[in-house]
Amino acid sequence: KKARLWGGRFRTDTDPVMEKFNNSINFDRRMWAQDINGSQAYAKALAVAGILTTEEAQSIHDGLEKVREEWAAGSFAIEAGDEDIHTANERRLTELIGEAGKKLHTGRSRNDQVVTDLRLWLRDQAAVATADMTVLIQVCCDMAEKHMGVLMAGYTHLQPAQPVRFSHWLMSHVAALQRDMSRLQDMLPRLNTLPLGCGALAGHAFGIDRDLLKRELGFGDVSLNSMDTVCDRDFVAEYMWWSSLTLTHLSQLAEDLIIMNYIRGVALSDAYSTGSSLMPQKKNPDALELLRGKAGRVTGHLCGFLTTLKGLPRTYNKDLQEDKEPLFDTVDTVHDCLRIAAGVVATLTPLPEGLGKALVPEMLATDLAEYLVRKGVPFRETHHISGAAVKMAEDRGFPLSALTPEDLRTLHPSFADDVAALWNYETSVERKNAAGGTAQSSVEAQIARVRGYLVEV
Ligand code: ARG
Repeated sequence: KKARLWGGRFRTDTDPVMEKFNNSINFDRRMWAQDINGSQAYAKALAVAGILTTEEAQSIHDGLEKVREEWAAGSFAIEAGDEDIHTANERRLTELIGEAGKKLHTGRSRNDQVVTDLRLWLRDQAAVATADMTVLIQVCCDMAEKHMGVLMAGYTHLQPAQPVRFSHWLMSHVAALQRDMSRLQDMLPRLNTLPLGCGALAGHAFGIDRDLLKRELGFGDVSLNSMDTVCDRDFVAEYMWWSSLTLTHLSQLAEDLIIMNYIRGVALSDAYSTGSSLMPQKKNPDALELLRGKAGRVTGHLCGFLTTLKGLPRTYNKDLQEDKEPLFDTVDTVHDCLRIAAGVVATLTPLPEGLGKALVPEMLATDLAEYLVRKGVPFRETHHISGAAVKMAEDRGFPLSALTPEDLRTLHPSFADDVAALWNYETSVERKNAAGGTAQSSVEAQIARVRGYLVEV
């Protein structure tokens, strides 16, 4: 019969298929460093509690440093029976230092251990995501600044609506990304809470100082209740939700750019495009389509994992081992997407001519109505009059801007000759100078506000 950490009460070996089914070492080995850090802190706390002698604690610490070197060098040999990263590290430690290694798990369970490792791991990843988000937002702000003079059509219902600055459009996506950044920061205190010292479910029988563990491992808080602690995976679900929303935002940015690329309003760098195996002329926006697609993948992980959690009884259940693969994939996917999005934006070129072709005089119908408002006519009336002008131009088969002041005066006497100056997209855009609008001063204020936020994060 094989040696097992938990083998005392077992008479026969596990079925080989069951062994493969049960093992998580293939994926949770990714947390080897966190597992070692957690165990070193735990050994220290056990010594303070009088469970280990100072020599034993030191020997555990040093033994774990050797285990760390093996992992770092890629020479750690996983053996049959190493179910997960926790059993593997403990097995190797005991091989290296003998008796003292067998005392390390006193009062600890893999239940509080695994969730400690996972929180430590995700905490590091959240820092990576913060850095990735910062780069993406900065790149967008740089592009917005650089191309301030470029105008484009703004749409509602994918119908030409009003002219806007390219920069204003780009900052509209930054606004969403800034909220994502802020949501990510909001999650951190809940994520950074210590689970260790809760045992299997009931708490610690040797009076371990959890506050010491908290300080040793850099946690900001100690979890409230041991039964909750070993089954709480809110932080996993929350991170997946955050990832889903962030990638949903990136999918919207990607879709806008796919459309702009289609109308030749932007040129995408070759570095983020691919060709067709059959059609030689093709240059496809694959980076953008993948960005659009990845949101589905990550949202799928969120839905799947919430379904795993739903209806679980207290406390630890092996279902919870299903948290890691989707979380790891989510974190990797977000990391890739944020870097790709930054690369695409940094290397694209807005094409004022292509973007300009989508600007049509009818997009100034609102400005026409507002012209009369400035002459004292109530907006509800001017909206109607401008609508009649659109109809008149449509009936005659020419653009709205071809209507002369005389034509317009047949609709309302307040149209003066200066109405001809209205057919100017730049003027229209510059009128939107209230906070949050598309006038240059307003867009510049948006950029400054976001840059100021980034400094504080
Ligand atoms: N590999 C397990 C996991 O990922 C560790 C905890 C196992 N605990 C247990 N009692 N079987 O969740």
